[in-house]
Amino acid sequence: MAGGVVLKDVVKAFGDVTVIPELSLEVAEGEFVVLVGPSGCGKSTTLRMIAGLEKVTEGSISIAGRDVTWERPKQRDIAMVFQSYALYPHMNVGENMSFALRLARVPKAEVAERVQRAAEMLELTPYLNRKPKDLSGGQRQRVAMGRAVVRDAYCFLFDEPLSNLDAKLRASMRTELALLHKRLGRTMIYVTHDQIEAMTMADRIVIMKDGLIQQVGTPKEVYNDPVNTFVATFIGSPSMTLLDGEFVEEAGRLSVKGAGYTLPLTERLAERAKTANGRAISVGLRPEHFAGSALDDGFAPLDLKVKVSEYIGSSQFLAAEIGGADITAAVDVGPEADLLSDGTYYFDTRRIYLFDRETGRAI
Ligand SMILES: Nc1ncnc2c1ncn2[C@@H]1O[C@H](COP(=O)(O)OP(=O)(O)OP(=O)(O)O)[C@@H](O)[C@H]1O
Ligand SMILES: [Mg+2]
Repeated sequence: MAGGVVLKDVVKAFGDVTVIPELSLEVAEGEFVVLVGPSGCGKSTTLRMIAGLEKVTEGSISIAGRDVTWERPKQRDIAMVFQSYALYPHMNVGENMSFALRLARVPKAEVAERVQRAAEMLELTPYLNRKPKDLSGGQRQRVAMGRAVVRDAYCFLFDEPLSNLDAKLRASMRTELALLHKRLGRTMIYVTHDQIEAMTMADRIVIMKDGLIQQVGTPKEVYNDPVNTFVATFIGSPSMTLLDGEFVEEAGRLSVKGAGYTLPLTERLAERAKTANGRAISVGLRPEHFAGSALDDGFAPLDLKVKVSEYIGSSQFLAAEIGGADITAAVDVGPEADLLSDGTYYFDTRRIYLFDRETGRAI
């Protein structure tokens, strides 16, 4: 059996409600995998089954090559940070962090060193002697993280550990976690509903919906080659726009056409389009592939009716309409430009996505 963490044909039902119909996943030893998906899709349940806090209804789980399906959490050599963490209220921060190590009779000097290192990384050094009740929510969450970090487990499991932190701290913790992973080289499975967190930290991302894995891939793969409209609109911010469309051939050139727009297809896309003959399609346009002018002859014009433009510095986000449908564009016109309004914008036709409108599958 391979190392890492392997879930095989796992099913989870609570009573007669099945929340994970079937899930198989192989996380390689040392890999950083992020489970991402909307609320209620089964991320925490999956993590809790790996941890042994929730029994599988069917299937098996192995960790480090050992079948742990019926082992208790303690036997699995994992450290976990929960979505809803509970600190020991009567212990100060340092004691909370060192509790598991003291229980395991790790030598005092080593406990002190590991706690100090974790506290520095989590910016908790000034609070080591405080009780949890005297900390902010974000600080408490970092203590919960510290308790896991001081342990030297085979596998680390994180369930939305950054959700209580402000934006700046969240960004710096992302970097710290990536560094921690590099330094420890341990297998890490991380749950979030934040696709930016997933994209920035993961070796591979697992995108889930309704208890089913939609796609597993590197950040590059899921962004560039989403398997369906769910993944396509979930990954990327602001979200990809989907427009109804059809294929039309004019003067030997294949285009996609819909209300208010016609976009020529590149040879690569025209090749793919042949596999979809006759079917209704959705055309996917990412906001970031718009431009204020045609940067080269790969760009095609689109007339947008701009409802709202948002100034965010160097670019502007446009909430617009095309042929009566909503569309989002991000246009980089520099920080000095006035707010953009109705007009002709340009789209990079090499970045068009095509989907089967019935099934949502990528063409
Ligand atoms: N103990 C339980 N009994 C019954 N249903 C449960 C139980 N725990 C979870 N569920 C259901 O299982 C589904 C998946 O829940 P889970 O907590 O895994 O979602 P999640 O992806 O972690 O969502 P969130 O992003 O909101 O944390 C939900 O519909 C939830 O209501
Ligand atoms: Mg959850």
